[in-house]
Amino acid sequence: LIEAPLVVVTNREPYVDERSNNGIRTIQKAGGVVSALDPLLQDIGGHWIAWGSGSADIEVSPGGKRQVPPEHPRYTLHRIMLNQEEIQGYYAKYSNQGLWPLSHMLIERAQFSRRAWQIYRNVNQKFAKRVSAVSPEGAWVFSHDYQLSLLPAFVRKSRPDVAIAHFWHIPWPPLTIFRLCPQHQEILRGLLGADVLGFQSELDVDNFLNAVERTLKVPVDRDTGMVTWQDRHVHVKSFPISVDFAAIQQLVETPRIRRWVRGIRRHIEHRDQILGISVDRADYTKGLLPRLDAIKEFYSLYPQYRERVTYLQVVVPSRTEVAEYRRFYDRVAKKTQEVNQLFATSSWTPIITLPHSIDRPRLMGLFRAADFAVVSSLVDGMNLVAKEFVAAQVDKRGVLLLSETTGAANELENEAFPINPLDPEGFANTLHEALSISADERAARISTMRAHLMKHTIYDWMEDIFLTLKMAAQSYV
Ligand code: UDP
Ligand code: G6P
Repeated sequence: LIEAPLVVVTNREPYVDERSNNGIRTIQKAGGVVSALDPLLQDIGGHWIAWGSGSADIEVSPGGKRQVPPEHPRYTLHRIMLNQEEIQGYYAKYSNQGLWPLSHMLIERAQFSRRAWQIYRNVNQKFAKRVSAVSPEGAWVFSHDYQLSLLPAFVRKSRPDVAIAHFWHIPWPPLTIFRLCPQHQEILRGLLGADVLGFQSELDVDNFLNAVERTLKVPVDRDTGMVTWQDRHVHVKSFPISVDFAAIQQLVETPRIRRWVRGIRRHIEHRDQILGISVDRADYTKGLLPRLDAIKEFYSLYPQYRERVTYLQVVVPSRTEVAEYRRFYDRVAKKTQEVNQLFATSSWTPIITLPHSIDRPRLMGLFRAADFAVVSSLVDGMNLVAKEFVAAQVDKRGVLLLSETTGAANELENEAFPINPLDPEGFANTLHEALSISADERAARISTMRAHLMKHTIYDWMEDIFLTLKMAAQSYV
């Protein structure tokens, strides 16, 4: 399918080299974009251009290049080094204090400044220069997300021979919200440099097309999603992202993870316990604080679950360059402690927090071992955790509680238990209901979701995008 050399461009790099007390460690940071794309590039090879964010990145790749994964190299990582001012203006401020909250419709959190905008623009240009330098003739450039919204137009200008697909992983807000971004027109123009623009849902596509039509006043064909822009066609479509179903299934069936899961289950069943799990970056969009209210409500309304339901929350520190994120992490820790103090007994703690990232095999093992998973984002483009949980549930015992305001709910809401993250009593009642259904019903629900995900994997996502790109590139020629 991929008929040209592939160049992936993201802000976050897939492998980060960090200096630690025991020398240099290569790690992967939590986040949907990296989780989705690394397996793809490992499979097909190519180039990946990203910000070299690790403290030992320069030392490990002095020329800005590194073959990855380190243990069995499959593709080339090109690192773009940013100085402190660039990191603050482009990453911490414009991307994560401006576009991120605005796109998630949390407008009061959004802050923009002209200085940050200038830096954001310059960094996008810096990325584009590297893309232009690295891309072989006729390459397919696959760029990503809100940090790089200006890149498609910059690349198009200097390299008209390449085909560009840009995927927006987070929600696209309604026009009334989007136009609060002082540079909204420039952002639209930047994105329209692509041949294919992908979003997570039809609603996002609709919101985007509205913005284009109303603010740039250009014709939009609603039936085909085609925008005519500067004598070209831009194909705008929804491509819901997914997971590598088979790989997750294989991972949880390896002898090491099977043994580990068996150990956890023995421990739980021996004490007649029920194990719940949630996995999130420490991000206010994930609804971590309202979720703790709901859990408190659950133990209050249904005391029979005290000393029985143990809830494990993996909370991975995220975007610690931004003060708000650091404060948020502390608030989650404090609130967790408050709930624990209310209900803990001498032999039982209701909420166990793992305050760090977990390696993928074990994370998938936890999903396999759990009786239920909770995804309660306030707003979320997709939420891959929900899909990973379903893929890892090979024993078909678990139920999924899923916020209605995630992209994943578009596909899974009939078999998952839908929750409103801002309704703690309703959330508590739904958890009770979910824990009361029979083993057969649990198996039936999870099987239906598994069948859906088996047919809609990350490879299908990529195939759809590249087929559209191929068509777009041909019609251009
Ligand atoms: N993740 C991870 N290690 C962790 C916790 C999470 O690799 O310790 C991964 C998780 O498996 C998922 C991704 O980070 O693939 C999070 O993606 P999601 O779409 O749920 O949310 P995002 O963080 O992208 O907003
Ligand atoms: C979300 C965004 C990604 C981002 C990830 C982790 O998934 O859509 O673009 O990489 O969060 O955030 P970070 O700022 O650590 O890369």
